[in-house]
Amino acid sequence: LKHFLSLDGLKQQHLNEILDLAESFINPQTNEIKKVPLLRGKTIMNLFFEPSTRTRTTFEIAEKRLSADVMNLNISASATKKGESLLDTLWNLEAMQADMFVVRHAESGAAHFFAEHVAPHVHVLNAGDGQHAHPTQAMLDMFTIRKLKGDIFDLKVAIVGDILHSRVARSQIQALSLLEAREIRVIGPKTLIPPYPESLGVQVYHDMKQGLDDVDVVIMLRLQNERMQSALLPSADEYFKTYGLTEERLSYAKPNAIVMHPGPINRGVEIDSAVSDGSQSVILQQVTYGIAVRMAVMAIIMSNAAQLQQLKHEQAQ
Ligand code: CP
Repeated sequence: LKHFLSLDGLKQQHLNEILDLAESFINPQTNEIKKVPLLRGKTIMNLFFEPSTRTRTTFEIAEKRLSADVMNLNISASATKKGESLLDTLWNLEAMQADMFVVRHAESGAAHFFAEHVAPHVHVLNAGDGQHAHPTQAMLDMFTIRKLKGDIFDLKVAIVGDILHSRVARSQIQALSLLEAREIRVIGPKTLIPPYPESLGVQVYHDMKQGLDDVDVVIMLRLQNERMQSALLPSADEYFKTYGLTEERLSYAKPNAIVMHPGPINRGVEIDSAVSDGSQSVILQQVTYGIAVRMAVMAIIMSNAAQLQQLKHEQAQ
């Protein structure tokens, strides 16, 4: 793997490699995430053209735990505001000897565009592009599920909400499908669910009671207001009444079901505080695991095979 732009073209074994390496970065006794020298001497630049709290920060922590040198470009104070093009910005940063760009952008395809134009030795990692993909989010979600519920192929997983505009849902469905989840369900209003090819095996529900019945994992998504035409946008109250996850609705799922959300959460719109802060919620654990998973992805695309072999050998001792 040279770049990590989406899960397209990956196989189950690639996903398991990422999940296993992420596991090796967590100290089993203390749950602390280790610091390792895998990317010492490498320079990683985080280019977030769209707001982010979790992804940007956990990437930065992950890069530092891999011992890389880290630079965060402040886009709002950069020369892009004076009319410098995306490509000129990219090439100038490359001239500062970047080894990898982590890119978030509101346009679908932005990370691919970067990957097409960087020098051959430079890596690009997609931290979320438009409605297209958010592959490290999907991987940290798979890690969380595997860690808390065991093998994914035994599980029924429901993704609830604005599926149509969600890059997270697209990547999650790909990952769940590659890991052969027993059932992948999507639940939401007709206007917010895209058509799925039968081959993907996704079951569509518009009713929370039916869709949540007996599931092991409930993944909530927020309404992506910024990507929605106003005609499609339901009112927050109306949406909560029909699709908000309340304690009563959560009781339709298995009693030990976990509740996930990629964040940011909108309390009282897609999820009730009693659920997001309740005992079945693993929302903040997702954030922590994001560090280890992002470390694993960056290590795999940037380290050479000998370094990774050495690391595995050390972990085994
Ligand atoms: N899950 C996620 O992408 O959150 P941020 O927008 O805060 O990075």
